Amino acid sequence: MKTLILFYSTYGHVYKLAEAIAEGAREVEGNEVVIKRVPETLPQEVLDKTGATGAQKAFEHIPVANPDELVDYDNIVFGTPTRYGNLCGQMQAFMDSTGGLWAKGALVGKVGSAFVSTATQHGGQETTLRAFHTELLHHGFVIVGLPYAWQGQMGHEEVTGGTPYGASTVAGGQGERQPSANELEGARYQGRHTSEIAKKLAVK
Ligand SMILES: Cc1cc2nc3c(=O)[nH]c(=O)nc-3n(C[C@H](O)[C@H](O)[C@H](O)COP(=O)(O)O)c2cc1C
Repeated sequence: MKTLILFYSTYGHVYKLAEAIAEGAREVEGNEVVIKRVPETLPQEVLDKTGATGAQKAFEHIPVANPDELVDYDNIVFGTPTRYGNLCGQMQAFMDSTGGLWAKGALVGKVGSAFVSTATQHGGQETTLRAFHTELLHHGFVIVGLPYAWQGQMGHEEVTGGTPYGASTVAGGQGERQPSANELEGARYQGRHTSEIAKKLAVK
């Protein structure tokens, strides 16, 4: 059984969630867990101006995925920062390059799940995750979210991400906030939960 955590991150918040999702996924026995990122599409000049170049050093060791390799996994958990309440362009470009897989129905029946980072609390976590789910449905993924069985999304004591559609974090207007203990716990839950379901589906 193999799980891929596939993400794009500009400033590192989505990457931190990706590592937590991987931690949870590794708790499932017999699960081979791989973290990869999608290719950057912004010119270096833009990355330098926006401060992304330094931030991206934290995950430059993570290999870049090739769309064709998605067929190798039973469970794929996709992570994106929001862009105007939607997927980021880098992730969308990657998804746009999976048409050949779609034509063959190559991803039908795999577990698919998504997680997200937004700057603000109401900046589009659910819309981004639901937009991602639409694409996963077109591919035939069996969509798995982050059920309320993870009780960390029930409280009101602190600002927190975590939605029934998938794990999330609130990065802050300047990216000043880091994923909280609660948000990381939700991400670990999603990694474990998607893997447990994929393991059941993978039994031949
Ligand atoms: C072009 C652009 C559009 C964005 N749109 C939104 C938005 O609609 N809502 C929001 O809360 N944050 C928005 N953001 C902020 C990013 O989502 C935020 O930087 C990201 O979640 C941080 O994740 P990262 O550190 O993994 O890159 C936008 C950022 C950019 C560059």
